[in-house]
Amino acid sequence: MVIHDNEDNQPEPSIWSIYGLKGNPFTTDAILIKEGFLPFETFVGRQEEIKTLSTILRMADGTRTIVTGDTGVGKTTFVNYIREKAITKNKFFTHLKEIEVEENWSSGNFISHTLASIYNTIDRIKLDTFSPRLKRRLSYLFDILDISNSGFSLNVLGTGGGYNHARQINNPKITNELLKGLFRAVVEELKRIGFDQIILHYNNLENLPKEKMIKLFVSLRDFLQNTKVHFIFVGGEPLPSAIYEEDKVRSIFVYGNIELNVFSYEEIIEILELRIKYLTNKGMRAFKPYEDGTIRELHKIHEGNIRDILNSLSVAMIEIIKENPNEPVILTKNKVRAKLKNILKKRYLSRMSEIDLLVLKEILKLGETTNTTISKNLGKKKQNISKHLNKLRRLKAIKIKKIGVEKIIKVSSEIRWMNLQEEVEPKKEVIEKRIESNTQKLLEGWTEEKTK
Ligand SMILES: Nc1ncnc2c1ncn2[C@@H]1O[C@H](COP(=O)(O)OP(=O)(O)OP(=O)(O)O)[C@@H](O)[C@H]1O
Ligand SMILES: [Mg+2]
Repeated sequence: MVIHDNEDNQPEPSIWSIYGLKGNPFTTDAILIKEGFLPFETFVGRQEEIKTLSTILRMADGTRTIVTGDTGVGKTTFVNYIREKAITKNKFFTHLKEIEVEENWSSGNFISHTLASIYNTIDRIKLDTFSPRLKRRLSYLFDILDISNSGFSLNVLGTGGGYNHARQINNPKITNELLKGLFRAVVEELKRIGFDQIILHYNNLENLPKEKMIKLFVSLRDFLQNTKVHFIFVGGEPLPSAIYEEDKVRSIFVYGNIELNVFSYEEIIEILELRIKYLTNKGMRAFKPYEDGTIRELHKIHEGNIRDILNSLSVAMIEIIKENPNEPVILTKNKVRAKLKNILKKRYLSRMSEIDLLVLKEILKLGETTNTTISKNLGKKKQNISKHLNKLRRLKAIKIKKIGVEKIIKVSSEIRWMNLQEEVEPKKEVIEKRIESNTQKLLEGWTEEKTK
C-alpha cells in the first residue's frame, strides 16, 4: 500500500507497512455505514444498550431517543452499528452519513438537511424504485443547500427558528410548511416502496447552546411526532439537561435516554486485537505493536475513554516510527511514557509558570471542577485564578464548558499524561544477560549449520 505525500505528490510506503498493517490500528475514526475505514467486525460490547435501542426501534409508531455520553466514548459508532443492523434486516430505511447538527441551525435548516441526507442516500444506494419526480424535487433542494453551504447565503432555508436574522434573505417560497410537506411525501414514498420505518441519526447536538437547543426542539415538536420515523439524537451535555429541564421538550422524549459508559480494559484490548486482525493482509501473521501493560496504564490515566487512549497510542507510535523507520518497534510502557512525557513538556509544561502549573495540577486532581472550588482549595482569590485559567485555556491545557450559568473546567486529555508513571530504567544486568544468551544461541545455531 502506498500513501501520497501531499507536498511533492511522491508516493511513499505507508509507515504501517513495516508492521504488516494496512493502516493505523489506533485511528479514532468512528465506524461508518458502508464507507468507513473500519468495518463493523471490529465493533465490541454495548450489549445492554443494543437491546434497549433495538426494542425502541421495534415500536411501530415512531420514537424519539437520545444517546448521550462523554466526548469520544463511542456514541456515533454505537448508533451507526444499530442502523447498520436495522437496514440489513431490510425493513428500515436510514441515511448513510450521520446528520451533523450545526450551531446556527433553525428548524428549517434541520428539516432541509434531513431531506438532503435522505436524498443523498437514495442517490448513492441507487434506490431506483423511489419516485423519480419526488427525487427530482429533492435534488433542487439539495442544490439550494449546496449553494447555501458554500457561504453564499446561509439561511435561504428555514424561516422558522429566527436565528441569524442578519444573514437571512427573503425567500418566501421555501417555508417550513413546504419542507414538512416534502418530508411527509418522502416518508410515504419510502413506505410505498417497502420500508416500514425510517431511522434518522442527528449527531453532535452538543454543538448547540442549551437555549438554542430547547428553542429548536420546541419548534420541531410536530415534525418529530411522525409515526413512521425513529429520531435518534446524539450528543453530550447540554443535550440531556436541555431535554429534562423543559417540560415541552421532555414530553417528546418519553422513550428515554441511553447513556454510554467507557469501555473496560478488556474491551479495549479486544477492540485493538480485532483491528489488528482486520488490518493484517490475508495469509500474514498479525504483528501486535503494543504490550497489553501499555494499554492498561493508558486505560487508567484516561479513565477508560477510548478516544484518548487511541490518540495517546497514535502520538507515541508516530514518534517511535520517526526514530525507527525501518523495523517494527513494540510500544512498551517505558517507551510510551518517555515519548508522551516529552511531548507534554515541550508543548505545554515548558510554557507555564509555577502557579499556572499548580492550578493545572489541582484541576487534574479534581477532574471536572469550577473556579470556586479551585480558588477555595488553593486559598486564592477567584479573579487571581481566572487569570491563570485564561492562560491555561490559551495553551489548550484546559477546556471550559458553559452549562447553564456554570463554567465547568477540566484538563485537556494530553495533560493526563502527567499521571503516567515514571519510567523504570531496565536493569543493566538483565539486558546484558539477554544479549549474552541470544548471542550464545545464535552462535550455536551457526556451528550446527556449518557442520551439516
Ligand atoms: N463499540 C465499539 N467497538 C469498537 N470500537 C469502537 C466502539 N465504539 C467506539 N469505537 C471506536 O472508538 C472511537 C471513538 O468512537 P466515536 O467516534 O463513535 O465516539 P463519539 O462518542 O461519537 O465521539 P464524539 O463525542 O467526539 O462525537 C472510534 O475510533 C471508534 O471506532
Ligand atoms: Mg461522535
